[in-house]
Amino acid sequence: MGSIKVVGGGRINGKVVIQGSKNLAIPCLCSSVLFDKPIHFKNVPMISDVFESTNILECLGGRVKCIENEIDIFPEIKEVGKACLGCGGRSTILYCGPLLAKTGRCSFRYPGGCHIGKRPIDIHERILEAFGAQKNSDEDKLEYTADSWKGCEVSLPIRSVGATETGILSAILAKGTTIINYPAIEPEIMHLCEFLNSAGASIVYEEDRDRFVIDGVTGLQETTYKLAADRIVAGTYMIYTCMCKGHAILIDAPYCELESLIELLRSFGAFIRRIPEGMEIYMNKRPYCSGKVETKYYPGFPTDLQSLILTLAGISNGELLIRENIFESRFETAYEFMKMGANVQITGDSARVIGTEYLENTKLTVPDLRGGAALLGAMLCGNGEGELKNIELIKRGYEDIVRDLKRLGYDGLEEMWNLKRKENL
Ligand code: EPU
Repeated sequence: MGSIKVVGGGRINGKVVIQGSKNLAIPCLCSSVLFDKPIHFKNVPMISDVFESTNILECLGGRVKCIENEIDIFPEIKEVGKACLGCGGRSTILYCGPLLAKTGRCSFRYPGGCHIGKRPIDIHERILEAFGAQKNSDEDKLEYTADSWKGCEVSLPIRSVGATETGILSAILAKGTTIINYPAIEPEIMHLCEFLNSAGASIVYEEDRDRFVIDGVTGLQETTYKLAADRIVAGTYMIYTCMCKGHAILIDAPYCELESLIELLRSFGAFIRRIPEGMEIYMNKRPYCSGKVETKYYPGFPTDLQSLILTLAGISNGELLIRENIFESRFETAYEFMKMGANVQITGDSARVIGTEYLENTKLTVPDLRGGAALLGAMLCGNGEGELKNIELIKRGYEDIVRDLKRLGYDGLEEMWNLKRKENL
């Protein structure tokens, strides 16, 4: 198990390059099953969720060559998956559509992912069945076959990111046209479409009709694609800068994808501007929080930044009401945060956070990926020394958060590993 030792009270004053996007890398890797030709991805974040996905690809017969932040994939899919495939992340469900389209079969473990809610996959399953999949398994496995794979029209009851991706990935090689009504339009989905279209797919987003229209094609071309920067990682470092009353240059930060956060942080007192290399953020006083924030699908406030805003509000001069509308267990972070002396009152899907000036660093355990980043932020401004345990969960999405904080000028962090565990990451 890994942990980070934190000495609180440091400053942020520096520059960091924002890594490539996790939630874009995952569907891009899954889409490689659709290709017969090599794909070259650049700016891939070196995180455990990506390694899990490339491991699955290798088990399916694909060849994967990874050098620094670049990954070459030679698809050559021979297997259809095994029930044992998948080890806790969300990738397996996104591999199903492409595998069924390509081979007519798939067999995986039920997907996992962070424990932030129940995370059912009923909408994905309905979409796969609309294309022609037949389920052959019990509830713990994803085992499907398909005799034919045809375009269809589906309407999403919730704007699910993953289900929209399942629809898009399933449609690329399907016979005929697919229409996905009421889709999620998170930037990662738009980038995924841009990548697939650059390889010969035919995906059109009709904003006025709130739908994707996808004409099936017979194959995809060899392609090179540079992944966009991770808006949630950029948002994390923006929030850290506000917490530590610092100044940061975030190279490649996707300003246009972060409007809801920028507006909120400005209302808390931050100075933020777009610069040619990315974004500059500056905070010269303790943040002042007031009002209400609620999470919503894009372009609303992202659920992945909710825990970070909660800890920011917890150290602020003011009070914030937070409502979580997407995942029902995101407030686990708040219970850990309260061990530092934070004042958070939780009622159902809402949390009332009353800012506290002095929080004590102590031993905390990471509950989930973004919750871990949020607790680390709180500890940067806590008093004294503390330890954040179970940081494997942070490694699922942040390439090297301690390295990045050092680049941002924060001294006082040390990553500690039980070496046996580190070899397995
Ligand atoms: N939902 C269903 N049935 C389904 C699918 C989703 O009820 O079949 C519900 C979920 O339970 C949730 C809501 O729909 O209440 C939205 O979930 P969504 O499907 O949009 O989430 P996801 O695809 O599982 C992705 C990101 C998450 C991010 C959410 C929301 C990836 C790999 N994961 O998850 O990222 O929070 O969209 O934006 O893209 C993270 O990066 O830390 C993370 C959890």
